[in-house]
Amino acid sequence: MDRLRIIGGQVLSGSVRISGAKNAALPLMAASLLTDHTLVLRNVPKVADIDTMAQLLAELGVNVSDHKVDDHDSSNVASSSVCVSLNGSGLESVTASYELVRKMRASVLVLGPLLARLGYACVSMPGGCAIGPRPVDLHVSGLEQLGAKILLKDGYIEASAPKGLRGANIELPVASVGATENLMMAASLADGDTIISNAACEPEVGDLAECLVKMGASISGVGTQRLEISGVSTLRGTDYTVVPDRIESGTYAIVAGITGGTLDLLGARIEHMQSVADSLTKVGVELTKITDGVRAARVSREICPVTIETEPYPGFPTDMQAQLMALFSVSQGASMVTESIFENRFMHVPELCRMGADINVHGSSAIIRGVAELSGAPLMATDLRASVSLVLAGLAAKGETIINRVYHLDRGYERVEEKLSACGADIERIDEDHK
Ligand code: EPZ
Repeated sequence: MDRLRIIGGQVLSGSVRISGAKNAALPLMAASLLTDHTLVLRNVPKVADIDTMAQLLAELGVNVSDHKVDDHDSSNVASSSVCVSLNGSGLESVTASYELVRKMRASVLVLGPLLARLGYACVSMPGGCAIGPRPVDLHVSGLEQLGAKILLKDGYIEASAPKGLRGANIELPVASVGATENLMMAASLADGDTIISNAACEPEVGDLAECLVKMGASISGVGTQRLEISGVSTLRGTDYTVVPDRIESGTYAIVAGITGGTLDLLGARIEHMQSVADSLTKVGVELTKITDGVRAARVSREICPVTIETEPYPGFPTDMQAQLMALFSVSQGASMVTESIFENRFMHVPELCRMGADINVHGSSAIIRGVAELSGAPLMATDLRASVSLVLAGLAAKGETIINRVYHLDRGYERVEEKLSACGADIERIDEDHK
């Protein structure tokens, strides 16, 4: 298994090309199941979760092909994204097996489109993961309201709607991103009108809605918590470019903050990261819009402590919580982070403490008392965002940090050591099999 080796202490500056958002690309790929025409997706990040979704869709009979697009933008910063073509005309299977679903919870996003297109779907329950049980009860109950018959058997969700789905008024008790996406896709081909209230309005949900509309779906209220979908009989293919990753953007903004540098985040959209920008401004890291993205710069001598609570969009994103905690570890004073979305999203805390961080967890809140300096150490990555918080801490720490189980990081961050090295970091990937 690969490891990352970091020697901390460099001030990082320069430009980083922000990749397409993994959490937009995954539902967009699942949308290929809704049509027998070709869906072309551009700016798809080259990360492991995308490969897993491609493998799952191929097993269902979708013809998936991709090709790398090597580009040099105006600032000559290398950007290599992937263009993926998906054609679901030859669907052969309606079963998403446990082997693949257990690797990636987002596999459950094939449930709604498969059911809407074929009238039947059998998808393994995703099971929990490191950050919590993460049930899919809202996906299931929403599909039942759309007329599906659902049987939970042997760890699988067996959904059927032989006469097709019909529109419904669905009120989500929790603004679930995945449930909103699954139900929006299913409702696009239902007979009649659907309203989804308390819908998630993350930019990735909006990206899916925009793509579905380009495919011929009738959706209004995009970007709000009330989506109105008028079902159509068929959807066409389209050519769609994935939105830049706001979480990757926020992560690299904290790279600038924790190392005391300035980074141009090329392609980033500040309008998708307002809550992060507001919080970082209070901390002493300024985000400003530039021609091709966002500039992140440490503007204060000290990192100032603040209190944050994670919330559904447009609140502070849970996917940025671990990264901010790394920054708070070297602030001047005590900060408090409250995680209100997931039950167990503090797996990074013991690892940060091994580096000398002073963090105490009390239920869903953590108190972080900043220390003058972290010390490099051998660390264990546990989940995607926890692993990147260890990278951030390693960049600021004195000495060498080794991060094991980097496959967690590779699920959602494209070429992290290349992007960081290009800005002056002393970081290398140790390929365990070929060292
Ligand atoms: C999406 O997960 C993202 N993943 C997550 O990013 C992100 O943290 C999360 O949204 C919240 O923003 C993708 O988009 C692929 P939810 P999702 O349904 O859809 C509860 C990352 O690091 N819930 O909005 O699974 C659930 O337990 C990943 O990139 C139910 O109770 O999240 C959680 O407490 C991690 N029943 C809350 O809602 C359900 O049926 C929010 O979950 C569904 C969810």
